[in-house]
Amino acid sequence: MKAMAAPLTDGDILLLSEYLAALPQVLPVSSAAGDLKNGNNYFQATCGACHGGQAEGNPGLNSPALVILDAAYLKAQYKNFQLGIRGAHPDDTYGRQMKMMATSLPSDKDLDDVIAFIQSRAVAK
Ligand code: HEC
Repeated sequence: MKAMAAPLTDGDILLLSEYLAALPQVLPVSSAAGDLKNGNNYFQATCGACHGGQAEGNPGLNSPALVILDAAYLKAQYKNFQLGIRGAHPDDTYGRQMKMMATSLPSDKDLDDVIAFIQSRAVAK
């Protein structure tokens, strides 16, 4: 992906962003199972303040919508923040905010429950 992104100018990125933003939004089919009550509790306590109570995102905080993402991607990205693969660069203000949060769920089971809760919001709409 890095090699594909390297030749893009700022103008190219703007055009691509506008094109992608104009595509119809397709919510993922839920593929995650988990304890929705536990997931809801953890999500509201540790994620919702930035990502919104229904995981719809909050542009004012630069916190992306999570409800539109698939379960495997959510888990992989959360792990990337945990491992410092994302959010480690000193200039990455928003990534660093998320990296700090990626230690707030006590276990992988709690993460799976949070992801199941996020996906349940997609189905509910
Ligand atoms: C302090 C605000 C804040 C809190 C609390 C927070 N996040 Fe985030 N999160 C962010 C920001 C900002 C980003 C975008 C980071 C970036 O630009 O790389 C992000 C990105 C993410 C991403 C990557 C999305 C993508 O499109 O790649 C995931 C997954 C995620 N957060 C999950 C969570 C979960 C799960 C919780 C609760 C345990 C949580 N976040 C709590 C601010 C927050």
